[in-house]
Amino acid sequence: MGHATGEKILSRLLLLGQFGQEGGIYFRTPFTTAEAAAIDRIREWMHEVGLTVRRDAVGNLIGRIQGRDPAAKVVATGSHLDSVRDGGVFDGPLGVLAGIEVVGQLLAERGEPEVPVEVIAFTGEEGSRFPLGLLGSRLMAGLARAEEVAQLRDRDGVRLGEALARAGLDSAALDQVARDDLSCLIELHIEQGPILERAGVEVGVVETIVGIHRIQAVVLGQADHAGTTPLDMRADALLGAADVVLALPELVRPSGGVVTVGQLDIMPGSSNVVPGRVLLSIDLRHRDAGELMRLGRTLRERAEALVTRRGLRLEWQPVAATAPVATDPGLRARIQRAADALGHSTREMLSGAGHDAMAIAARCPVAMIFTPCRGGFSHRPDEFADATMIEPGFAVLKRTLGDLAWG
Ligand code: GLV
Ligand code: MN
Ligand code: MN
Repeated sequence: MGHATGEKILSRLLLLGQFGQEGGIYFRTPFTTAEAAAIDRIREWMHEVGLTVRRDAVGNLIGRIQGRDPAAKVVATGSHLDSVRDGGVFDGPLGVLAGIEVVGQLLAERGEPEVPVEVIAFTGEEGSRFPLGLLGSRLMAGLARAEEVAQLRDRDGVRLGEALARAGLDSAALDQVARDDLSCLIELHIEQGPILERAGVEVGVVETIVGIHRIQAVVLGQADHAGTTPLDMRADALLGAADVVLALPELVRPSGGVVTVGQLDIMPGSSNVVPGRVLLSIDLRHRDAGELMRLGRTLRERAEALVTRRGLRLEWQPVAATAPVATDPGLRARIQRAADALGHSTREMLSGAGHDAMAIAARCPVAMIFTPCRGGFSHRPDEFADATMIEPGFAVLKRTLGDLAWG
């Protein structure tokens, strides 16, 4: 293969990147006009290769080819369309565009598949708008209750149900998003870390996807006048929150896990008012389920002790807990065989990032193929993978899907 395939996918990625610019930064969230524009374009590309396209009630876009046995379970590939604020254009869309191209090439070369094949563009994987990641895949896997999901609010107070209605989607049909007709999902994604590039390895085969706990913690103190309240008469919520922020990494470090406070809302948020209330987002990750639970308890206890020492109070609300997920050994072996046959180097690895595959794993076997990315950068605007980085993973996905669905 020359670089034509990689270049084609790259140019489409860059084009899609224009549908999500907000105030000069790339940010595409669910049920926005930016998402709708991206979906329109992807729908066209799906049609071009002969897929039948539908959108489910939560906004997942699904391109399908029936195959010779339409009643058989579906071989699926895909990834997500949304991004983090000021993120890169590869995280997510690469897996969607690679999927369309793979299926297009296989249809052109080998005709109709034996079983149905789908390319899925999941919505709301990042949880950047509503406080629940893996939105589209969670509902598809039947892991979230439709009524609860519809009540989630974004930072502007818009309910998810309202946002769906404004986007022309039917929130009353959310409970019909769950499926049991999938036979497997193979998701291609950039690694988002430096391991493959540093080691000069072409393809990552994900063995485990890290478990993720998201917590919303609130430190409660008392708002007061910044000029007249003596320092020793204050209940400054930010000082307690700062203690917590500083303590968390040290508590997690020995376990080999990671923890991040990425959002800090200081209320009432005036330069001349002592902070009365501070909201912190806590993102805690570990590859081992038991260790993750233990760390969650330890962080809560320590946070409680730290804020109490300052005469403050703590609220601790778990927002989402996703256990670590092992990918399917049989699918991993197929991917390995495909890579061997193509002469591409591989490495089995942990995914430190969350992915739609981890939700779908509740329904059917899943696997993930990683491509290297420049510098290992991700969730930042200079996220990048060139055609030579993309093509080995693409070729392995193509061979694996060909093997699974075309026989
Ligand atoms: C998704 O990118 C995540 O790992 O949070
Ligand atoms: Mn991401
Ligand atoms: Mn992603």
